[in-house]
Amino acid sequence: MATSAIRTAEDERLPMLLGFQRVSDNTAIATRFMEYGRGIYVYDTDGREYIEATASFYVASLGYQNAELIDAIERQYRELPFFVSALHRTSRASLELAEKLVSLVPVAGAHMLFGSTGSEAIDFLIKLLRFGAVARGEPQRTTIIGRHGSYHGGTIASASLTGGHHEEFGLPIAGFRHVAQPDYHGEREPGESQTAFCQRLARELETLITHEPADSIAAFFCEPISFSAGFKLPPADYFPSIVPVLDAHGIELVADEVVTGCGRTGQWWGSQSFGLTPAHATMAKGITSGYFPLSAVAIGENLYRDLERGSERIGTLAHAGTYAAHPVGAAAALKTLEIIERDGLVEHAARMGERLGARLLDLAEHPLVGDVRSAGLAACLDFLRRDGDDRPINDDADAVLERVYSKLLERGVVARPAGRSLIIAPPLVIEADEIDEICRRVSLALDDALR
Ligand SMILES: Cc1ncc(COP(=O)(O)O)c(C=O)c1O
Repeated sequence: MATSAIRTAEDERLPMLLGFQRVSDNTAIATRFMEYGRGIYVYDTDGREYIEATASFYVASLGYQNAELIDAIERQYRELPFFVSALHRTSRASLELAEKLVSLVPVAGAHMLFGSTGSEAIDFLIKLLRFGAVARGEPQRTTIIGRHGSYHGGTIASASLTGGHHEEFGLPIAGFRHVAQPDYHGEREPGESQTAFCQRLARELETLITHEPADSIAAFFCEPISFSAGFKLPPADYFPSIVPVLDAHGIELVADEVVTGCGRTGQWWGSQSFGLTPAHATMAKGITSGYFPLSAVAIGENLYRDLERGSERIGTLAHAGTYAAHPVGAAAALKTLEIIERDGLVEHAARMGERLGARLLDLAEHPLVGDVRSAGLAACLDFLRRDGDDRPINDDADAVLERVYSKLLERGVVARPAGRSLIIAPPLVIEADEIDEICRRVSLALDDALR
């Protein structure tokens, strides 16, 4: 039953377009309307309880109804609910957040630029990279490399950087190239070692670069782990294989930490989990636990100098965002980061993640499961199976995923289907018994889907 207060006829089209689904499913009957949340639980208008086992797209890291965070936001609303950051003015909260992030981010000598969404952070950085290239006298250095399957946002540039769903939108715009995802489980040749697989990807990257005009590539953007591609956990040799290729061609590595930042990987940043030292990084989602939309770019020191030099010549940096560095968002982020730090939630996420990984590994022998991967407080079941000769044996992994996802939802757990994988990445505040309960229900949903 749909919520009668909002919709009357169940098959009526909703007056809004929901994301990542068929447009014909924009109906009351196909939609669950969430009303409130507590801790890791959310409740729909029919009173059904769900464990939000992906923190609602990897965002609500402190869970729902965090009173301390709500108080901090309310205080900021009472003091200064809005102030723009431009023309020699900003708010105290925004400055304090910038100072805090500079001390945390994995980017040396960073300066922070704020936005509202992850997509904006990606777009802003691409724009600044172009400004910097012009300022340095290298205006041709505009091409950006992304990876197939990665998701970087819904705006035109971030969707062009995204590695898929281009054709239906007439994308990508000029200046975007894509290379393979480190999908070792799906794409390795039978018997191919991780090292050989990673070297193959590094050769593919080198080939792409050498076929582009000289000095035309500005940066390689990647999430330390691509959740959207189906939790493609990079093998240990992946980054050590590709980073030297980028370095040899003067191409900067940008870490999109929108999902992997703020504790998700059991370290502050996914970059740290993989020993990366990105030139720049983007962040959003868990930075405010979703209590206010806020994103940020950590601009590396060389680019910052180029921005200074360029604007010296032109007189201004013609970029701003009305809501960028919003004081309420800044207060929300400051309090979120304070709670994560004070309560040791990064270490807690690592501990809970170990438990999650171990519990899901117990399901590795289930007839539907092809692979189990985990890192920090995130894990997936991959439904592509391989035979004794290491050859993929099923082409219905997508259909299996869809079945397991639906069965799990029926059992009151919201997971995330992506690629061939079911992803679990709950709020950082989750406790051990809650991890066990999620995994118990995943096990039941697998059996349901098998029947
Ligand atoms: C890795 C990554 N980057 C960027 C984005 C875009 O963020 P937003 O949806 O806030 O625009 C997302 C969104 O899921 C993401 O997963």
